[in-house]
Amino acid sequence: MDSILVTGGNELSGQIPIAGAKNACLTLMPATLLSDEPLTLTNAPRLSDIKTMTELLQSLGAEVTSLQDGKVLAMSSHNISNHTADYDIVRKMRASILVLGPMLARDGHAVVSLPGGCAIGARPVDLHLKGLEALGAELELKDGYIHAKAPGGLKGGIVNFPLVSVGATENVLMAATLAKGTTVINNAAREPEIVDLADCLRRMGAQIDGDGTSTITIQGVERLHGATHPVVTDRIELGTNMLAPAICGGEVELLGGRIDLVAAFCEKLDAAGILVEETDKGLKVARRNGRIRAVDVITEPFPGFPTDLQAQMMALLCTAEGTSVLEERIFENRFMHAPELIRMGAQIEVHGGMATVTGVDRLKGAPVMATDLRASVSLILAGLAAEGETVVSRVYHLDRGYEHVVGKLSSVGAKIERIKGQ
Ligand code: EPZ
Repeated sequence: MDSILVTGGNELSGQIPIAGAKNACLTLMPATLLSDEPLTLTNAPRLSDIKTMTELLQSLGAEVTSLQDGKVLAMSSHNISNHTADYDIVRKMRASILVLGPMLARDGHAVVSLPGGCAIGARPVDLHLKGLEALGAELELKDGYIHAKAPGGLKGGIVNFPLVSVGATENVLMAATLAKGTTVINNAAREPEIVDLADCLRRMGAQIDGDGTSTITIQGVERLHGATHPVVTDRIELGTNMLAPAICGGEVELLGGRIDLVAAFCEKLDAAGILVEETDKGLKVARRNGRIRAVDVITEPFPGFPTDLQAQMMALLCTAEGTSVLEERIFENRFMHAPELIRMGAQIEVHGGMATVTGVDRLKGAPVMATDLRASVSLILAGLAAEGETVVSRVYHLDRGYEHVVGKLSSVGAKIERIKGQ
């Protein structure tokens, strides 16, 4: 397995281009199943998760062609010959569950493996199933698979989510576009990836209102046609790279960055003493002089502080002046980066969903281990400013969600390289 070697201490300056959003692309790709006409995505990110979703769609009979070095995905689902999403693929990537709603809406039947848990939590899919049942789906769990049927086709219905779920909102939103009648989703997720999916579905002929708010209304239509859609900028890659100059000092412009995608995150950067300004190409981030100030963080559904930036924010706060409290309210086990940061000299105490970080002057490089996608990049960020060398192992987690992270960071002056595993 490869690892990444980071030597801390360099200030950063220059520009980093931000790619299309992994979490938008992973829901846009299954949307191809809703039509037998071609759906083409531009500004797609080059990530291993995208390759996994490609593999899954191809296993169902869809054609997925990667063009322009992976930035364009030309898809066509005119011939879906298989309606079973195998455990082998689903266990590698939980977002595979997002083929369930589209397959059910398209052909009235689907068999999808239950995804199982993952490092950051149990991550059940009960809300996906309840939402589809509200549209008339008949679901049975057997041998680890969801057997779904909608013999007379899906019917519009009222979906009341007891808690906000991005994936469940996406599954129901896609299924409802072809259901007979009107669907209302209450307590819907409001993430930019939901709005991006709705934009794409509208290009395909869907009738959707209210996306981006907690109530989404969908008028079902007979069929959807093909479209071409640009994947929205990745707000998590954006926030992650904004933290690089914040931690190391210097000034970096994030090309394609948009304030509206990271507003809550920027409020915390401002409180910590980081300068963020909009430019005509994106967002410029600089560290004001003096130490970072401690800030408290609570992770919440959008538009609150994103859970996917919690680990990276903790890396910044390890060397802030004062004590910060981070409360993780979305997932039950998302502090696995804390013991690794402690190996680097951070002072962190974790009690349940709360982590208390007491700032130290500087971290010291050390061998550390990536445990999940966002934890892996928080260790790299910590290594950028730490004294000496940090070696991050198990970087396959990183490849799932960050495009060319070594190339992008070294292009702005970071001393970072990938070491091939034996
Ligand atoms: C999406 O996961 C993202 N993944 C996650 O990003 C992100 O952290 C999460 O949304 C929250 O923003 C993709 O979009 C592919 P949820 P998702 O359903 O949809 C519970 C990353 O690092 N829940 O909004 O799975 C769940 O356990 C990944 O890129 C149920 O109880 O998240 C969690 O506590 C990590 N039942 C909470 O809801 C359900 O049926 C929010 O989960 C579904 C979810």
